[in-house]
Formats: sequence, C-alpha cells, structure tokens
Amino acid sequence: MNNIAIFASGSGSNAEQIIQHFSGGSLAQVKVILSNNPKAFVLERAKILDVPSLVFKRQQFYETNQIVDFLKSLGINLIVLAGFMWLVPSNLLMAYQGKIVNIHPALLPAFGGKGMYGHHVHEAVIASKARKSGITIHLVDEVYDHGQILFQAECEVFPDDNAESLANRIHQLEHQHYPQQIERFLRSFAHRP
Ligand code: GAR
Repeated sequence: MNNIAIFASGSGSNAEQIIQHFSGGSLAQVKVILSNNPKAFVLERAKILDVPSLVFKRQQFYETNQIVDFLKSLGINLIVLAGFMWLVPSNLLMAYQGKIVNIHPALLPAFGGKGMYGHHVHEAVIASKARKSGITIHLVDEVYDHGQILFQAECEVFPDDNAESLANRIHQLEHQHYPQQIERFLRSFAHRP
C-alpha cells in the first residue's frame, strides 16, 4: 500500500477527488492532509471524508525537520501538492526526491513561477489573449513550477472568458486527470524503494 500525504492551502477540490479516487482500493490511501492555512476549506473536506489533517506554521516548515519526521513516521512515500502555495524546503525535497508532484493550472513553462497561482494564472492567460490553456502535472524541485513535466492536458480559452469561467474549466480538467495521473505515477515506481 502506498501512503499519500496531500499538501493544500485552499478549497481542496483536487484533494477531495484524490481521496475519493483511492478510497477502498489497495494501491494507495491518502493518510493525511497538511495545510499552512488554518482557515482552508480543505480541512473541512478532510473532516467530512474522515482523513486526518495537520496545520503547520511557517517556522516549523522552513526551520525544523518536524514535517519530514512526521511524514516518515506515517510511512508516507508520495507527496501530492494540490493548490499548495508555499515553496517546498530543501529538507523535504531531499527526503522525498522524485516523489513530490504538483499540479499547475496552465501549460508550463508558460504562466508559471512565483506569484503565479490560482486566479493570477487565469488572469495572465486571458490578458495574453492565448487561445488555449490547460493543466500541467510535474515533479517538484527547488524552483516554483519548474520540475520535470509528467503530463499536460489542454482546453480552449474563449473570447468571453473571465478568470472564473476559465478556472472552472481548468478545475474540471484537473479533477478528470490528477487522480489518474497520480495512480499512473505510483504504478511507475511501485517496485522501487
Ligand atoms: C488548482 O487549480 C491548482 O492547479 C492551483 O490551485 C488550485 C487549487 O484548487 N495551483 C496553483 O496555482 C499552484 N501554483 P483546489 O484547492 O480546489 O484543489
């Protein structure tokens, strides 16, 4: 059984889809939700779905090894970022090399980098008059939105789109693909330590 930890800062709609995708199966389980934001709606979803959660502070995350120790104590072997807004520190990257995935709501390398999250991304896409956008699932490294790309899917951007309508279309794509791509990724390293 693979043990997944999801990091999320906001609503958690992707986290919910991932929890449900693996629930009752034998490949993986979502063991815990971690958040930097005590008000994040993802924590309500975790309660409803009966998944334990942990809220942590900036100092804990960046200046101690507590989060790595906690994840190791739970036997976590995959970290999934789902709307997580903080850069992952090097101690966590080293402890989970090649085993941290993120989803970005645009077609990287375009519209990525610091400050490019949530509605900021969709506003930038619309302002650029791009005719397509999409999602990118990628490995996480020490630079925002930079690691190896594992999967992309596209959608149209319509002339009358605003950030909200585009975000809705992107969320649908994310829900359709993120759980499945996590499953595919897990199967690819199932036999590695
Ligand atoms: C998702 O669209 C995700 O791609 C984006 O935040 C949203 C979270 O939605 N992530 C980023 O912008 C990371 N740079 P959710 O909380 O409903 O899953």
